[in-house]
Amino acid sequence: NKGKYEHYMQKEIHEQPESLTTTMRGRLIRGGSCKAKAVLLGGLKDHLKTIRRSRRIVFIGCGTSYNAALAARPVLEELSGVPVTMEIASDLLDRQGPIYREDTAVFVSQSGETADTLRALEYALENGALCVGITNTVGSVIARNTHCGIHINAGCEIGVASTKAYTSQIAVMAMLALAIGGDTISNQERREAIIDGLFDLPNKIREVLKLDQEMKDLAKLLIAEQSLLVFGRGYNFATALEGALKVKEVALMHSEGILAGEMKHGPLALVDENLPIVVIATRDACFSKQQSVIQQLHARKGRLIVMCSKGDAASVCSGGACRVIEVPQVEDCLQPVVNIVPLQLLAYHLTVLRGYNVDQPRNLAKSVTTQ
Ligand code: M6R
Repeated sequence: NKGKYEHYMQKEIHEQPESLTTTMRGRLIRGGSCKAKAVLLGGLKDHLKTIRRSRRIVFIGCGTSYNAALAARPVLEELSGVPVTMEIASDLLDRQGPIYREDTAVFVSQSGETADTLRALEYALENGALCVGITNTVGSVIARNTHCGIHINAGCEIGVASTKAYTSQIAVMAMLALAIGGDTISNQERREAIIDGLFDLPNKIREVLKLDQEMKDLAKLLIAEQSLLVFGRGYNFATALEGALKVKEVALMHSEGILAGEMKHGPLALVDENLPIVVIATRDACFSKQQSVIQQLHARKGRLIVMCSKGDAASVCSGGACRVIEVPQVEDCLQPVVNIVPLQLLAYHLTVLRGYNVDQPRNLAKSVTTQ
């Protein structure tokens, strides 16, 4: 049932304040005067010690689920102190990459049925790793065959393009980082800031969804383009990959997410006054580096669309003309949840304006059950 919406993708984008609320329900403790703020992940509680002692944590997934894990990686590394590596399921299998008994392998999958992720799970089980599932589908094969796990509880996702599952996956993995990280005096302030940020996230998503018309106007400008680049780094490298994946998958427009730190190692050659480029430059430790990327793109007359934190429009675009998308600022590790929303809206409107099928893109299936 699409309710008041025309398409499932549109409904699922707009439903994110509620899906995030459900994802976090009963898992975050607000803490009163004498109670510390805490995270409760029932499905993991008997395994947290083993995870903390693992030699590394390996995230394994495909497509959007891989991107969600990439977005959560920095905060997991920061809070747990355990090295975190990333594997695209098919690539791990192609290489028969090393997985050890001392590893914790985390399988991220909306459907819980993706063939590549499932084969990678079988492979990790054979190699003796502790296997954790993060899925949206209770009773799915990945949920059943992992040792323990967390349901993201985002509600049924029907559009082939994953939207609300992505934001809920990141929220769950931020909670996972808090749970693994444990409570120490030195990280108490940071933990509390993240927990407060999680509580407030649905409100911030409500706020960023107000950019809908602005994103529709931007889509009108981009309707006939051949290509769109998206530059991000740090917490928002994943946003660049995921934004580009949305655009190519539904709007059938070539789009590439690029790590901004790699700009001078090739992509800069593409920059001219015609190719539209989205630069994600919201406030975090990488902000000044992104400012200098913007300046260098201006110097090559790049056609820029800059995503920045509210109030930063003038400072990010001082060196030349550009279009700005201003988003609310949240705790840095949660910023990818906010930043993806305008790009989801852009992909959605581009698709409708270009006359393509939003919910069932050409050649794609919701759940990829063949290898
Ligand atoms: O169900 P899964 O999360 O395992 O699916 C993985 C990918 O097939 C999926 O995320 C795909 O990339 C989406 N269509 C992207 O929107």
